[in-house]
Amino acid sequence: MCGIVGYVGNQDATPVIMGGLRLLEYRGYDSAGICTMDDGDVDIRRSAGKLVNLERLLKEHPLHGTIGIGHTRWATHGKPTVANAHPHKGGSVVVVHNGIIENYLLLKEDLANKGHDFTSETDSEVISHLIDEKLKTAESLESAVQQALRDLQGAYALCILSHKDDKTLIAAKSGSPMVIGIRGNEYFVASDMPAIIANTRKMVIMEDGEIAVFRNGGVKFTTTCGDEITKESRYIDWSPMKAEKNGYPNFMLKEIYEQPLAIRNVFAGRLREDEGDAFLEGLNLNDMQLNSFERLCIVACGTSWHAALVGKYLIEEHCRIPVDVDIASEFRYRDPLVSNKTLVIVISQSGETADTLAALREAKSKKAHIISICNVVDSSIPRESDGVIFTHAGLEIGVASTKAFTTQLVALYLLTIRLGRANGIIGLKKGQEMISALYELPALVEKTLKLDDQIEEIACEHLTSWDAIYLGRGISYAIALEGALKLKEISYIHADGYPSGEMKHGPIALIDREMPVFVLAPNDRHLVKVRSNMEEVITRGGNVVVLCSEGDLETGKRAKYTLLIPWAGEALSPVLFTVALQLLAYNIAILKGKDVDQPRNLAKSVTVE
Ligand code: M6R
Repeated sequence: MCGIVGYVGNQDATPVIMGGLRLLEYRGYDSAGICTMDDGDVDIRRSAGKLVNLERLLKEHPLHGTIGIGHTRWATHGKPTVANAHPHKGGSVVVVHNGIIENYLLLKEDLANKGHDFTSETDSEVISHLIDEKLKTAESLESAVQQALRDLQGAYALCILSHKDDKTLIAAKSGSPMVIGIRGNEYFVASDMPAIIANTRKMVIMEDGEIAVFRNGGVKFTTTCGDEITKESRYIDWSPMKAEKNGYPNFMLKEIYEQPLAIRNVFAGRLREDEGDAFLEGLNLNDMQLNSFERLCIVACGTSWHAALVGKYLIEEHCRIPVDVDIASEFRYRDPLVSNKTLVIVISQSGETADTLAALREAKSKKAHIISICNVVDSSIPRESDGVIFTHAGLEIGVASTKAFTTQLVALYLLTIRLGRANGIIGLKKGQEMISALYELPALVEKTLKLDDQIEEIACEHLTSWDAIYLGRGISYAIALEGALKLKEISYIHADGYPSGEMKHGPIALIDREMPVFVLAPNDRHLVKVRSNMEEVITRGGNVVVLCSEGDLETGKRAKYTLLIPWAGEALSPVLFTVALQLLAYNIAILKGKDVDQPRNLAKSVTVE
């Protein structure tokens, strides 16, 4: 998604900004640009495509100046062309923008009537013209920005320059993340800490409605009404992991193979074998508080939503607590029925997904208690939650979530143990058994990874497919959805996940010899039913690949291919089936020559609605 880096200090701004943008590259973008100010001259370079194009342009036409702003754009309004790339210039004002301005058409019409010429199709360009318009009567750039921001509806993180005030950089935020790094009298502004943390660990996290004005080696914070505010800086003590492939051909494969370790990291130090319990300090809830909730509601997007579905099965089954699962973008707009008796669990790898963050805020406004399951420390979602379980998966660069998902499943398993122990539904012995099963899991993931050669063979048979169906029942239904999403994301093959019992209610009409059907048939209580559903597909000529549990020599007999997945028990087998489906999607995508780390049109962290 879009990234912002700004700099004001005594160094050449361009390398600082380009270095920061490079660190945000993995998040997905389709054009980039930079602007610096040098003795009142404002100069912009923009290019479509990857940063290397912008770097080439800068080599031919270098920029100078110790104050500047840069941007990587993930197109929302307007194609990924040079004209739509940021920075945008309206009169004397240059802006880079993350977010979406919802009333831009109205503003644009009004500004056009006042004589402003627009050169892009973006919503963002409107902001530069609006500030420029306000500058005509405002006493300063700062005041013009304040006035303009009061007219904007939607979300923004902004960096603003104007040659009319050529020693000033302004940053503002509402609804999209923005942080400031401070090193002496140098200031680094960024949409994400990792872009600037190598320069400084002293950070100020901007909140919605705040403006930062950098001038004369200092910074002043105000509200959009112009009231000055005091902000505290924080020392950031975590280190961003380096994005290194460590010999793997791409990040996705590396992250798939990191799962045994990542899973160990989720439960390390969090298990109490003697008490058969999980120790989740970050929850900030004792047994009595945990038992005071009438129901749970889990909210997330994409892959994290699939984890939420697994969470529902686990918690309802083992703790007998009612759980609703919601897609965040739906939850936020349907006046959800939550109250101070609801525990809302928000799941997000990045901690910055705009819809998930908005859902969290909606639940909070209704007095729900919020806990998040999150990978990225210091991101907005855990910061705004009452409690958090960090997944400690480490940096995930591949746009398609792999280790982030399986660690979310393990975090939900830990939460299940904790909730069940707190309400007594999970007794000591069962708690201890659940813990023992978890200790076995990393080794079983390693064993599953060894199926890669077999999975590659299956992948070879499915390179020309246009569609695929994934079937699962019970907890495996969520994994069928996740398997289908992985295939769609990285191979661009259309795929759908269905509860296998649903096939006969419609989707079975799709079955012919061409349609691959991946059936998830773990050795759980649904196995007999899944076999029948599979038979219904085979009878109609379906091309079935079945994933069943080791030791099951029956289920695969009539399937075209069988993959035997280690058995980790009903609650943890979803992790192993997921790993096999990740490898399947990966192999298909690689054999088709796709870029698995940065699939087309996708962004790692979706910070707009
Ligand atoms: O960072 P989040 O977990 O909140 O992200 C949610 C989704 O955008 C994300 O899971 C997306 O579906 C991934 N590309 C899946 O591989």
